Amino acid sequence: MIMALSLALPQAHTSTALDVEFSNVSRTFTTKSESRAVLSDINLQIPAGQVVAILGASGCGKSTLLRAVSGLDQPSTGSIRTGKRNVDGINELCAVAFQEPRLLPWRSVRENIALGLAPGTSKADGAELIDELIELTGLSHATDLRPREISGGMAQRVSLARALARRPGVLLLDEPFGALDALTRLKMQDLLLSIHASFPTTILMVTHDVDEALTLADRVIVLGREGQDTAATVIKELSMSASHPRKHNEDQFIAHRAGLLRLLGVDPTNH
Ligand SMILES: Nc1ncnc2c1ncn2[C@@H]1O[C@H](COP(=O)(O)OP(=O)(O)O)[C@@H](O)[C@H]1O
Ligand SMILES: [Mg+2]
Repeated sequence: MIMALSLALPQAHTSTALDVEFSNVSRTFTTKSESRAVLSDINLQIPAGQVVAILGASGCGKSTLLRAVSGLDQPSTGSIRTGKRNVDGINELCAVAFQEPRLLPWRSVRENIALGLAPGTSKADGAELIDELIELTGLSHATDLRPREISGGMAQRVSLARALARRPGVLLLDEPFGALDALTRLKMQDLLLSIHASFPTTILMVTHDVDEALTLADRVIVLGREGQDTAATVIKELSMSASHPRKHNEDQFIAHRAGLLRLLGVDPTNH
């Protein structure tokens, strides 16, 4: 688990991290002509506050799994629980950020972040929380700009701040830095760690980047198919015990990196 840094927010504005449980989750998509089993037999217990990275080949069901937690999709069998509640319809305890920031172009940075506030948040509370998020995500100089006037990295910071404005118990990130250049991506990884230190939320993050997974996560989960035409399930799980910041030349990191690349079909000696 990532230990708290010095950035702790006032108590009134902290979210409460929730544990997540997947029990026998499967998902089969049925169309008129065919039935396709995408996920099967997913069983996971994720403690509150854990940062989990989800890896797997393209099309293996990573986004489907996150959508099921958010309530945007329903498992065909099994159930998902966040905190005390089973997911049934849109899950208000979660917030999602995607690869594309999905900002409203006619709204300012500040207004876009405010869209994430939970319904019923008082004006004063909302304004205070947004001020804190703007500071945390380094957007103080950009609050009045429109999305077209900011860089891709800044837009993604707005997207993260908007998700956090909900004070989610579970933050779902679907390849959040996948469209950013390599340097911006590294900065966003640092930002995510400091966000996690000041906002006690559970994070489920899909990434295709093995280094990113090993740098950020307490736990790495790989989804994959055990045979052709079978549904994907959890084929590997790793716990990362090293503290942050993680050095990429440490033995544990190097060994895990090689193992994960191999599992994903890449020869680690070439990379
Ligand atoms: N609503 C849907 N209807 C039919 N098939 C779907 C639907 N959503 C996803 N799929 C299929 O499920 C598989 C997994 O998709 P997805 O979860 O997006 O994979 P990943 O995020 O790992 O790339 C893909 O083959 C995709 O075409
Ligand atoms: Mg996806």
